[in-house]
Amino acid sequence: MIEITGLTKRYGSLTALSELNLHISPGEIFGFIGPNGAGKTTTMRILATLLEPTAGKASINGVDVMRQGKQVRRLVGYMPDFMGVYDDLKVYEYLEFFAAAFNIDRAKRKGIVEGVLELTDLTEKKAATVDSLSRGMQQRLGLARVLIHDPKVLILDEPASGLDPRARIEMRMLLRELKTMGKTIMISSHILSELEEMCDNVGIIEQGHLIFSGTMQDIHAKLGLGCKLRVYVPPEQTGRARELLASLPQVHQVDAVNEHLLVTMQNPDSPNGLLARTLVQGGLDLLQLVPEQIKLDEAFLQLTKGLVQ
Ligand SMILES: Nc1ncnc2c1ncn2[C@@H]1O[C@H](COP(=O)(O)OP(=O)(O)OP(=O)(O)O)[C@@H](O)[C@H]1O
Ligand SMILES: [Mg+2]
Repeated sequence: MIEITGLTKRYGSLTALSELNLHISPGEIFGFIGPNGAGKTTTMRILATLLEPTAGKASINGVDVMRQGKQVRRLVGYMPDFMGVYDDLKVYEYLEFFAAAFNIDRAKRKGIVEGVLELTDLTEKKAATVDSLSRGMQQRLGLARVLIHDPKVLILDEPASGLDPRARIEMRMLLRELKTMGKTIMISSHILSELEEMCDNVGIIEQGHLIFSGTMQDIHAKLGLGCKLRVYVPPEQTGRARELLASLPQVHQVDAVNEHLLVTMQNPDSPNGLLARTLVQGGLDLLQLVPEQIKLDEAFLQLTKGLVQ
């Protein structure tokens, strides 16, 4: 659905994007993650036809972003990181304005505006002025706006920034709903853990370079985190448990951490059952066996610190 090849953007001597390659499949939620100044907004603005790249190619649904801008703008709903100010406009006037800008028939506009208000849970606020809305509502209005022309692809630049935890959850639910409606969604954020459960794939960008792209499982595998398990036995049995586990050829390392053992397997596919069986057959009481969870935040830090090649 979105294909980016060798995309490069320079501002004078600064290279904001360096030969970026990305592939986003139809119906996917793709998380675009990176610190301030990484090049997220630059990439998204290029996809939305608002910025010309210095080199490289991008297409959406097979339509060339640089050459067929008009068609691309019909396909894409782009929500910028900052919304323009339209002080005196009422919510429905604001949305009708954009409906008109997309040449939607006057007769159909009302129905469409009501539809997107409903979807974004803003029906009650339709007669309020835009500047009287809370931050979270304004973000939802921004989303309502980009849905007006029923685009196949949504490009959302930090839609959850500045939202409180509850509003974040609501935003996440709304995005999932949009996914079930068949939209392809590219969403940027620095709040990594937030994207973790929502995204099918993530791309991590830093200083204009894509340093990782894949699924969360890929991140786990890359960092070798699927290989770690925490093993809990009664305190007096930890020594024996350590000996038994360390003697297994599938086990790479066993560390004692507080009251439990942190076991690193040779490879992520080793069955968890092996450790449990070994302990029980050794006459020990296995209290708990917990696979090590990794947060996207940690993965991100490790990846960006260059700890993983
Ligand atoms: N119009 C511009 N002129 C010069 N430099 C720019 C311009 N726009 C962006 N840059 C630079 O390009 C780099 C990438 O910026 P970009 O806005 O794409 O980052 P970002 O990942 O969206 O960051 P943030 O998380 O802060 O939104 C930064 O170094 C920025 O200073
Ligand atoms: Mg940005």
